[in-house]
Amino acid sequence: MKVLIFDTVTSAVEAVADRLAGKVAGKPDCVLGLATGGTVEPVYEALVARYEAGRVRFDQTHTFNLDEYVGLEPTHPMSYHSYMARHLFDRTDFRACNTHIPHGNAADPAAEADHYERLIKGRGGIDLQLLGVGENGHIGFNEPTSSLSSVTRLKTLAPETVRANSRYFEHQSDVPQVSITMGIATILQADEIALLATGSNKAKAVRDLIEGPLSAMCPASALQLHQKTEVYIDAEAAAELSLRDYYEAVHPGGKIGHP
Ligand code: F6R
Repeated sequence: MKVLIFDTVTSAVEAVADRLAGKVAGKPDCVLGLATGGTVEPVYEALVARYEAGRVRFDQTHTFNLDEYVGLEPTHPMSYHSYMARHLFDRTDFRACNTHIPHGNAADPAAEADHYERLIKGRGGIDLQLLGVGENGHIGFNEPTSSLSSVTRLKTLAPETVRANSRYFEHQSDVPQVSITMGIATILQADEIALLATGSNKAKAVRDLIEGPLSAMCPASALQLHQKTEVYIDAEAAAELSLRDYYEAVHPGGKIGHP
């Protein structure tokens, strides 16, 4: 695991955007795994800026999002379909036929989850997976105690996730309780992973995922098993790391490469 600590949120975000854009430049028909949430919004803004400046194009790139709420129509403003359209897909040249998000409104959501897992495999798997992390250590919607071998399936949101996500809904009671999410094993099958975490509210999850025991109580700790994971964090999210000096010596300023 490469732990990359940046002075500011902006520099961490720009580094992640460079990582994604660099992957697409090197392999235009690559498969990206994408996340939603507040943390990655500025990453999409930075990708749109690169696209508008003519520095990257996405017309051959495939995407698979991590998750979607069960019960929301794709057109619902709080669905992850709408989120992706708003922040990235409608503002760039991604082709609709190449972008995939689980259908939360499927008549049989469990069958939709199985289908989604097969779709990912059928596309040859994910080249580079973008992740955020929940304050409780979730990745995708794999909440604490999720099986570390889980694949795409239905998952009930933890109460703290419902509370955190209620900021996007008018009432907490409007937040869907169930999601379709890639599993932890699905995520670990990606060739490469880039996780972004910023802000002091993520410091504990960041510590547990990097330095804690491998445990279903912190699903993100499963990334310790992955050979090519990069964790991009700002100074606040790095605050609880006990080996911070070591990470900063290996990757000064978050740069990959030895000092
Ligand atoms: C959603 C997802 C989640 C978020 C996590 C952090 O697709 O993957 O795991 O990354 O809930 O959300 P924010 O960034 O809003 O704190």
